[in-house]
Amino acid sequence: MKAGIIGCGKIFPMHAVSIKKQPCVQLVAVCDSNRELAEKTGKQYGCSYYTEYREMIAKEELDAVHICTPHYLHAEMAVYALEHGINVLTEKPMAIELEDAKRMEAAAEKNERVLVVSFQNRYNPGSLLIKKTLESGGLGSIISAKASVTWNRSDEYYSRSNWKGTWEKEGGGVIIDQAIHTLDLMNWFIDSEIQWVDATISSRAHKTIRVEDCAEGLIHYKSGINASFYAMNYYTYDAPVEIELHCEKGMVNLTGEKAVIVFHDGRQVVADRNPMETFDFGNVKQYWGVGHMKEIQNFYSCLAEGKIPRNTSREVMAAQELVCAIYKSGKEGRRVLC
Ligand SMILES: NC(=O)c1ccc[n+]([C@@H]2O[C@H](COP(=O)([O-])OP(=O)(O)OC[C@H]3O[C@@H](n4cnc5c(N)ncnc54)[C@H](O)[C@@H]3O)[C@@H](O)[C@H]2O)c1
Repeated sequence: MKAGIIGCGKIFPMHAVSIKKQPCVQLVAVCDSNRELAEKTGKQYGCSYYTEYREMIAKEELDAVHICTPHYLHAEMAVYALEHGINVLTEKPMAIELEDAKRMEAAAEKNERVLVVSFQNRYNPGSLLIKKTLESGGLGSIISAKASVTWNRSDEYYSRSNWKGTWEKEGGGVIIDQAIHTLDLMNWFIDSEIQWVDATISSRAHKTIRVEDCAEGLIHYKSGINASFYAMNYYTYDAPVEIELHCEKGMVNLTGEKAVIVFHDGRQVVADRNPMETFDFGNVKQYWGVGHMKEIQNFYSCLAEGKIPRNTSREVMAAQELVCAIYKSGKEGRRVLC
């Protein structure tokens, strides 16, 4: 199969190196609107380079395209690729607006192509242990849940970027960019439709941004579960994210990637990042781990075998619904029905 990547910025190496490791895939082209970066990256990976993604799609006969661009471009690029018969793996978030995410999903269905959204933390051993234990019924039902994300994104992080920190291009702040992974995991564990969201958002500690750097709220699921969350990105470092699930038959705690499940009968199971599983992605954050590699491996092996990969747009749409409901509730200062 032939793959192309749009966007050669910070997350790019996670995709490029992961593609290079797949025996059935060749990275044939990259695209970035920054000509110098496109050329440098194309030369580094020994492939063609473009500054216009439509031209890359017209010339390269791609089987799949990876979208690693600012959030406001995901919907436009994904729909265009799907309409041209190309499978898509887009970085999170799927889109800024829920209507755009639904348009992307409709384009995938209409063109019978696959649309996967990168929520690589679902591949972590700790996340998988929790999901499997819940599905097996070993914990009974979830009674309630809470999550927190307290990270650091400096003023410089925002001033260095021409799209981060803006409603138009990033679509929000700490929720849509950082906490989305943790909210997605909590949603995935709870596995129920959301009934309503009551949230606040505020911009508190950063000097230049208008988007929120703090948010908290309550998510009420149709199954009756209340899940609380707190997220901010003006802490002094990226503290490990936390999710706790209070279940009928035990307690679940996820701290960073480490899951600890303590059953009421005294049994305990633990899963954490496997220190033997490492890949050299170059100069990228350790936090990102090897989830991208696993996700991209699953994407291509499923394409090759005609199976449906994990993390399709349908599977992760709930995360988009949740993020959009948090913003609506925060902006309008009221409870929002989903
Ligand atoms: N899954 C994760 O854990 C994770 C981590 C980091 C970033 N991301 C996501 O990856 C995406 C990219 O983030 P980043 O940090 O790499 O951003 P970045 O700003 O470092 O890179 C984006 C690149 O896209 C290019 N670009 C902009 N407009 C373009 C266009 N019209 N055509 C082609 N290229 C264009 C820019 O020139 C830039 O090089 C975002 O969706 C972000 O949320 C995901």
